[in-house]
Amino acid sequence: MNYNKKTIRDVDVTGKKVLLRCDFNVPQDKETGAITSDKRIVAALPTIRYLLENGAAVIACSHLGKPKNGPDPKLSLAPVAERLSELLGQTVIFAHDVIGEDAKAKAAALQSGEIMLLENTRFEPGETKNDPALAKALADLADLYVSDAFGAVHRAHASTAGVAAYLPAVSGFLIQKELEFLGGAIFSPKRPLVAILGGSKVSSKIGVINNLLEIADTIIIGGGMAYTFSAALGGKVGDSLLEADWLDYSREMIEKAAAKGVKLLLPVDTVCADAFAPGANFQVVKAGEIPDGWQGLDIGPETVKLYCDAVADAGTVIWNGPMGVFEFPAFAKGTEAVAKALSHTSAITIIGGGDSAAAVEQLGYADQMTHISTGGGASLEFLEGKELPGVACLLDK
Ligand code: 3PG
Repeated sequence: MNYNKKTIRDVDVTGKKVLLRCDFNVPQDKETGAITSDKRIVAALPTIRYLLENGAAVIACSHLGKPKNGPDPKLSLAPVAERLSELLGQTVIFAHDVIGEDAKAKAAALQSGEIMLLENTRFEPGETKNDPALAKALADLADLYVSDAFGAVHRAHASTAGVAAYLPAVSGFLIQKELEFLGGAIFSPKRPLVAILGGSKVSSKIGVINNLLEIADTIIIGGGMAYTFSAALGGKVGDSLLEADWLDYSREMIEKAAAKGVKLLLPVDTVCADAFAPGANFQVVKAGEIPDGWQGLDIGPETVKLYCDAVADAGTVIWNGPMGVFEFPAFAKGTEAVAKALSHTSAITIIGGGDSAAAVEQLGYADQMTHISTGGGASLEFLEGKELPGVACLLDK
């Protein structure tokens, strides 16, 4: 797949109506519906400002949540329009439908330098089915399609991919930046390339491990999935998370790494607890020696040293998945130590979206990383080497 895509700088946007797909899938308070983080709205501002300053009329759109049966007032994008308006310092006109009368009338009346936001694209049943009729109706609102929804580029939906069949399609600055950093790390990394993979399940990281075994010089395993690897080597994992169906796969990966000369680092010690709780009793034991009734919740101090040494002289580090249950302070030390080590290395440091991004932010190291991806599932699929429909549909340079 070609990642060298045309951007908004490569086309004339002046006087154009631009359908701008953003990822405004923001977290909301369950009770009040208030937006609890506006990071995704802020991330779209450079592209929006560029388009408005260059004389485009911007018709923004996005999904929010996973509405099942059409419009759901709890998942309306109206609060996003309000927040975007505050951030931009100008009115964001809100359409109460996606391709209905309101959207059509407001889009037709929109002037250069003005911006409107359509209602949640998933209120239309054709969105997730990538229905060509919906894609065409969206395209009919505009002259140009710009995607900046990196978090949604792994979805082949009408507003993320289908619409590009009917309009010239280019990327905004956010997608451009994501492709530059993630693509740089995968296709032309400064070596050695060290990949740190954590999170709870081996089964959710198979594609990433497979792909990175072909690319990385060192792969570091942490988090819950390390216990499946440990058990695969005959270790005792007590009550730790264990995916019995993935023991053979884990053994194969260990053998494949050895055959390819990729260093695969596994924990040498573990912080284990007598319950999955923030205040549980805990002790440090050697990896593979977790007593019955205890469960591993973090990497131990020897492992921290091993992993930090491995990133110290890296050229590029890709990190996806925390080292332990970082939500509980007693079991956040491994994740924090790795984040700190990344903040000290001169390597290019790329953090996958989702949990790893949340960990780095929560622990206060976010501004010391080279790049933190805004896409959870999207960055994972990128690291798996999969084609991203929302990128593939954009015009090549
Ligand atoms: C995300 O939050 O990861 C993106 O917005 C994609 O959302 P989805 O998983 O509902 O498609």
